[in-house]
Amino acid sequence: MAWRVILSVLFLISSNLQGGAAGAPQVPCYFIYGDSLCDSGNNNDLVTDAKANYPPYGVDFPEGATGRFTNGRTFADFIAELLGFDEYIPPFATANGSDILRGVNYASGGAGIRDETGQQLGGRISLNHQLQNHLITILRIREMLGADAETYLNKCAYTIWMGSNDYLNNYLMPDIYPTSTLYTPEEYADVLIEQYEQQLKTLYSYGARRLAIFGLSEIGCAPAEVAEYGTNGSLCVDEIDDLVLPFNDRLKPLIKELNSNLTGAEFVYVNTYGVTTNAVPGASLTSPTCCKVKKDDGQCIPFSTPCLNRTLYSYYDGFHPTETVHLEVAEIGYAALLSSDASPFDIYRVSGGSEEGYTESKR
Ligand SMILES: *[C@@H]1O[C@H](CO)[C@@H](O)[C@H](O)[C@H]1NC(C)=O
Ligand SMILES: *[C@@H]1O[C@H](CO)[C@@H](O)[C@H](O)[C@H]1NC(C)=O
Ligand SMILES: *[C@@H]1O[C@H](CO)[C@@H](O)[C@H](O)[C@H]1NC(C)=O
Ligand SMILES: *[C@@H]1O[C@H](CO)[C@@H](O)[C@H](O)[C@H]1NC(C)=O
Repeated sequence: MAWRVILSVLFLISSNLQGGAAGAPQVPCYFIYGDSLCDSGNNNDLVTDAKANYPPYGVDFPEGATGRFTNGRTFADFIAELLGFDEYIPPFATANGSDILRGVNYASGGAGIRDETGQQLGGRISLNHQLQNHLITILRIREMLGADAETYLNKCAYTIWMGSNDYLNNYLMPDIYPTSTLYTPEEYADVLIEQYEQQLKTLYSYGARRLAIFGLSEIGCAPAEVAEYGTNGSLCVDEIDDLVLPFNDRLKPLIKELNSNLTGAEFVYVNTYGVTTNAVPGASLTSPTCCKVKKDDGQCIPFSTPCLNRTLYSYYDGFHPTETVHLEVAEIGYAALLSSDASPFDIYRVSGGSEEGYTESKR
């Protein structure tokens, strides 16, 4: 693992230098869809419990607590850096003017593939709603670029990481949601993937070609889940980890199929299963969360003092990984070292090829 971390750091530094020297990012724009794993402020003005715009969130982020559910940057921030952007992609809630030409972050804490997911938390922007917001952006871009808008949108990078809440804040809450009585885990994965397929096709119809789709990680290892369910001697709640496997098992071949069916689609499946527990060797031996968490929702207690050395932890609060894990996720997606990390190619290969086709990966 160590050589991999060193490689990652070197890669990040060299990529920053190159980005700075060359001045232009590898793609003109980057659009982000997702949940609290990459929300960067879209929930701040919503009436919802799913908010992180207070310390100690953002303790390692230059602007402090922005609404990011972690101590520092999210994987989407790292991917923006790796792509050569010198500013982070603005959240839809505050993006204005020509900002949107660099891309927009639509992600919203608590959101899911299904519209009802996360409703017990309050306001959140479901994936369907995020796609509607993207249409608003497209209309604005058309006003600015006219007939060039379509080819512009084809050149952008797109990432989407969705589905965790459809389990954590839906299927696993039988008192509130009927899904677990309606569907077996296999059936539920079918239902989710069918809807996801339509949403990915919608995104394609809106011009997305270079789209990285992140599979689900081992959400049963989240300290809040471990505290709630117990683990029977294992490090994680194995029943919950097993629940998301059928989702990943269906998603990967779907991406392959979409690549062959949709002309020009260069969709990437990113395997994040295991990343949270592997990114910080030995983390599970220390206390499980960096910040002190509220018992009811697993989020950081407002204005509490976090742990001193954040690099020693995988989880910042009861559900959300630290910046160290986010960096690993970005690396896996952007410059996969193993073909099992990202397939059929990584974001670097997809994005580096702008007009000339794929270039050799930097590795
Ligand atoms: C865009 O938003 C930023 C920060 O929210 C603000 O400083 C700026 O004046 C706004 N620009 C326009 C054109 O509205
Ligand atoms: C715990 O593990 C033991 C041994 O594998 C098994 O017999 C038991 O049913 C498990 N209990 C729960 C609650 O999963
Ligand atoms: C891809 O095309 C084949 C042949 O038309 C079709 O059977 C299949 O359902 C399509 N798959 C997807 C994911 O659209
Ligand atoms: C944090 O922990 C890492 C790994 O043990 C160590 O290399 C680093 O020096 C520590 N940083 C601080 C500020 O203590």
